[in-house]
Amino acid sequence: MACGGSRTAFQSKNILCGLCELCVRSSSPRDMIRPILKYGDSVLHEKARAVDAITPDIDRLVNDMIETMYAAPGVGLAAPQVGEPLRIFVVDISIGRDPNGLMVLVNPEFLERDGVQLEDEGCLSVPGFNATVVRPLRAVIKALDREGHERQLEADGLLARAFQHEMDHLEGTLFVDRLRGIKRDLIVRKIRKLSRAGKW
Ligand code: NI
Repeated sequence: MACGGSRTAFQSKNILCGLCELCVRSSSPRDMIRPILKYGDSVLHEKARAVDAITPDIDRLVNDMIETMYAAPGVGLAAPQVGEPLRIFVVDISIGRDPNGLMVLVNPEFLERDGVQLEDEGCLSVPGFNATVVRPLRAVIKALDREGHERQLEADGLLARAFQHEMDHLEGTLFVDRLRGIKRDLIVRKIRKLSRAGKW
């Protein structure tokens, strides 16, 4: 089913954007925007397992992840963030603006990483917080696409950062875990406080 609105990124990929009125109306109950788990939920802090085969269930999960990422909106989403401990993530650093921006990576592995970049980073599972995280500047990843074909992807800058952030999710690591000392303690303390108040 194609996006019925004006979202070219979705139209070209023949999927629902889940955001425009036509897509919301024509969306089947199977195409879902899923709740995003937050820091502290055990699935987020565990290592995800490899996908054995691209089954219809996996395909549906990927559709849900794409819809959930765009609805958030975010530039990336990993399967553990929607409660599925599987090695899958979706990324679109253009958030739907670039028709070729959407990437689905299944069982990704790093082939190369080099350089250093220091930028502010956030996460849909840690809403309201961000911090400077040190990451390699460039990354080369091998992964299956959603059809099960092996692909090699090379990225630098923001895309390399997004790849590494999402790869971390598959290892049960959030950006908060990459921080040290006071910065990390401050965020963790604030999250605990919000949790206790029932606001997390
Ligand atoms: Ni994240």
